[in-house]
Amino acid sequence: MKVPKPSYETMEKIIEVLRYGSGAKGCVPIKSAHVSGVSYANIKEAGMEFLEDVAKSGVKVKVATTTNPGCAEIGARSNRYGLDKELIENQRRIVRALEKIGAEATLTCTPYECRRVGFGEHVAWAESSAVAYANSVLGARSNRESGISALASAVTGKTPLYGMHVAKNRVPKARVEVEAGELDEARMGALGYLLGAKLGSEVAFLSGVGRCDKTKIKCLLAAASTAAPVSLVHVEGVTAEEEWAGKLAPRRAEHTIGMEEIEEQREKLSFDSADPDCALIGCPHLSLEELARLAEENSGRKFGKPAFLFTSRRVAELARRKGYAGKLERSGASILVDTCVMWSGLGRLGLERPATNSAKACFYLRNAMGLKPKLCSARDCLGA
Ligand code: F3S
Repeated sequence: MKVPKPSYETMEKIIEVLRYGSGAKGCVPIKSAHVSGVSYANIKEAGMEFLEDVAKSGVKVKVATTTNPGCAEIGARSNRYGLDKELIENQRRIVRALEKIGAEATLTCTPYECRRVGFGEHVAWAESSAVAYANSVLGARSNRESGISALASAVTGKTPLYGMHVAKNRVPKARVEVEAGELDEARMGALGYLLGAKLGSEVAFLSGVGRCDKTKIKCLLAAASTAAPVSLVHVEGVTAEEEWAGKLAPRRAEHTIGMEEIEEQREKLSFDSADPDCALIGCPHLSLEELARLAEENSGRKFGKPAFLFTSRRVAELARRKGYAGKLERSGASILVDTCVMWSGLGRLGLERPATNSAKACFYLRNAMGLKPKLCSARDCLGA
């Protein structure tokens, strides 16, 4: 099969094929795009050359475009764990290609920490956890784009008008009652995973979770969108459209989830090793507030094992200026940017039993990397 040379027309065609396939009558202009499929570890030589061809074609993005994490740190400290030099250079080639078309090398799965996203704004984002956050917490409108469809939207400035872009598709089809008291972020992730497993892509209205900070809601949504193609969960008292959604949700709860079921799910995701050999926190990437809290909670302590904290270069820079990064590093943590919790440096360091507070990370560390992760709160991961 002959692959057409990338050009503006090719990107228009991709959008047209999607529009036709989805049954959408037209397209809607978007305010931003978030492109995934930019990690050399996933896209390898063929994907890298494709992005370089796109850049050579001269196409430019029409809207603010952010990028998902790669597989290595690419800044000055990129080689501190002895990663393969060729892998780092290839990751840099990908980033150069993306920058040439006008995308910003944010290299993060939390693009909402890089620019303000307005309520009701249409966006075309890839990265399932970011899409679920945008729809649920910010009240923006995005389908779960692939790397290529997000790129085509970035270049053309539009996306087909279907799915989460249409108000009636955002009405909850199921009500789920949680009867479990206050949950930590690891158990919120287990709850999110259960939700995805029970409801698939159906939009749910979740009540009874109580107080829910940013870490918890991120862990819930990231896990739900790992278990199933979930794009939107309305959470009573927490998410952007919960008042509207609560009135339209079915009156009777289709499912009631209690602590026993959540704990069972946590145990299924976790190896529960008694002696984790490191801590991995930041899946999705840590925000400035989360880093501030970790710095505060662990002030003056020394971590008993290697602790890796994942965030974006932008947030890391802010955390450095505010002094949070320095505090955490003095406790023994390493702050990694540009890359993801599936970072290949762990293998180099011979680490196999990471503790993480993210159910999404647990799922992938176990199933894609063959490690033995333990799912527990950040406090337990860091041995407080
Ligand atoms: Fe982000 Fe990687 Fe987790 S992209 S959501 S840190 S698996």
